[in-house]
Amino acid sequence: MSDELSTQAADLAGKAGEALRGASSEAELSAAKSHYLGKSGEITALLKAIPGLAPDQRRTAGRAINEAKKSVEALFVERRTAIADAALSASGPNPVDPSLPARSPWQGHVHVITQAWDDICDIFSSMGYSIEEGPEVETDWHCFEALNIPQGHPAREMQDTFYVDDGIVLRTHTSPVQVRTMLRKAPPLRVICPGVVYRRDNDLTHTPMFHQVEGLLVDDRVTMADLKGTLAEFARAFFGPKTKVRFRASYFPFTEPSAEVDVSCPFCTKAKGCRVCKDTGWLEILGSGMVDPEVFKALGRPEYDPNVVQGFAFGMGIDRLAMLRHGIGDLRLLFENDVRLLEQF
Ligand code: PHE
Repeated sequence: MSDELSTQAADLAGKAGEALRGASSEAELSAAKSHYLGKSGEITALLKAIPGLAPDQRRTAGRAINEAKKSVEALFVERRTAIADAALSASGPNPVDPSLPARSPWQGHVHVITQAWDDICDIFSSMGYSIEEGPEVETDWHCFEALNIPQGHPAREMQDTFYVDDGIVLRTHTSPVQVRTMLRKAPPLRVICPGVVYRRDNDLTHTPMFHQVEGLLVDDRVTMADLKGTLAEFARAFFGPKTKVRFRASYFPFTEPSAEVDVSCPFCTKAKGCRVCKDTGWLEILGSGMVDPEVFKALGRPEYDPNVVQGFAFGMGIDRLAMLRHGIGDLRLLFENDVRLLEQF
């Protein structure tokens, strides 16, 4: 009896081997395997017959049947790998080419406004200015009163203000930082104040939030010539060494006399039709002037006696300077964070 089972086992192993070798797909392979080793498979049936044998015969038969089972299992694994490999090479060249160069990671860079901010700060730092910052939510006094813009002064309408509370505003310029600095430090003083400012404005060239740098120099014997030299130097450093500068008389409540500063348009080729300067050849870049004695008086500090010290001040929009430098026509583009714009600079 045990001999019979052993022979049958060897026989079935041979047939199973043929079936597995003849299978050409994974499905055929699995079907062949379960025909012999599944729940009601032929080799499984032999295994089930072992308990019915006489005890002395079980060992020999058991060994032979298990050997048959193992050989079928091993062949199944071997054939499955071979079929998968064949399918892969039939699908053409290996889709993974490890010799290709790696894709380099996407790298961001500094935003155009931050670039301009940093450049402006660098230029003035190299002239000995230190950088001061202050709060964006300001008191009416620091933002207006102390700067010779009293309640009801028509200049308050020049700056459409966001009021937070009675006497509290979102600063419309960074001039209040200059006031705060003079309250803390005695002259001589040379500071620039970069920062975020807010005005109720929204069109091609205005956004309700924008960036400014204002500068202040206080000392004895400061003249308008110092102001002109400083700003001309700045303009050349920022827009290029060939840049020409012109000063136009203007008015600000906190400076007297006051001047607006234009630079020669860096895009003009003298041919007609410059989009950036609208064919005028000039771009307005900042406001400036000699500090009004009323501003010094408002501080209430003897160190700032307007009979002893003088100063000049200037203020510029960082966003506007960034636009002019790159010839960007719409200020709002700077705040959309569209990578197609940002990647260009
Ligand atoms: N504070 C002015 C503004 O925001 C700019 C300015 C500063 C003008 C200093 C003159 C002197 O418009």
